[in-house]
Amino acid sequence: MNISDTSNSPENPNSHPENSEQPVGSLPFGRPLQSEFNDGLDYPRLGSVSFRRGTLTENQEKMWEENWPRIGTVLSDELIDIDQWFGRTGAKTILEIGSGTGTSTAAMAPLEADTNIIACELYKPGLAKLMGAAVRENLDNIRMIRGDGVEVLNRMFRPASLDGVRIYFPDPWPKARHHKRRIIQSGVLHLIATRLKPGGVLHVATDHADYAEWIAELVNVEPLLEFRGWPWPECPQLTHRQVITKFEGKGLKKDHVITEFLWQRTDQPAAETEHTDV
Ligand SMILES: C[S@@+](CC[C@H](N)C(=O)[O-])C[C@H]1O[C@@H](n2cnc3c(N)ncnc32)[C@H](O)[C@@H]1O
Repeated sequence: MNISDTSNSPENPNSHPENSEQPVGSLPFGRPLQSEFNDGLDYPRLGSVSFRRGTLTENQEKMWEENWPRIGTVLSDELIDIDQWFGRTGAKTILEIGSGTGTSTAAMAPLEADTNIIACELYKPGLAKLMGAAVRENLDNIRMIRGDGVEVLNRMFRPASLDGVRIYFPDPWPKARHHKRRIIQSGVLHLIATRLKPGGVLHVATDHADYAEWIAELVNVEPLLEFRGWPWPECPQLTHRQVITKFEGKGLKKDHVITEFLWQRTDQPAAETEHTDV
């Protein structure tokens, strides 16, 4: 993610006349959905941040238009019926937030074919790349949501509906004045905990030393999440990425150390919380 001026972007809602027709898989016109959580916890504030542009090739566009209605959906206020979306009942479901180009998502999917994998990303070319792999390799257990993962969790998933949440190499926002944009914060940990089933697993990995320290300070702030640290032997979800992610590769080239954080949802019921739109 970077900060850019999208005033002339074809996807910038403000640059379109009201009656333009939206292509499939576009973010809706108008202000993006943003919740105000009234729970005293910290949530990322993205402010004027927008997501980098990028265009699809002609072939990718064709594939996108053909396949998005079946395997993709855009952030909305509609709760997802997971069983209906995947056309099967009772399978475990993992949400990956910030799947990027989906290299590891696609590599892991066949090894967890009995698990529903939902990749959430804002960056259309990244989703298109993952879609290409899913279509080519017949990866039936992958679905995609385009939108902000925090809003997606809050608006589209019922409490206790997920078996796992993955956040691999989230944007580190290295400058101190941007730390408030980091996705790992007390409020997001709480939100994730409410969406996980008891026993469900949150897996975060980073190659950024300062972000690792930041996360280390937060490992015990959420009472509904038990910090387990490193993958434990009977961890109920695949924790080995099989193929290193794009950003993991970039980090490794710079000799960065990869730090993995795992939490498990406790059995305690979550209290109901309210949020309002801002
Ligand atoms: C540093 S990249 C890592 C991508 C991939 N996981 C990897 O390891 O190669 C972070 C990704 O998270 C996405 N992202 C950032 N904030 C997000 C959010 N709130 N919801 C969904 N995706 C987000 C960005 O668009 C970007 O593709």
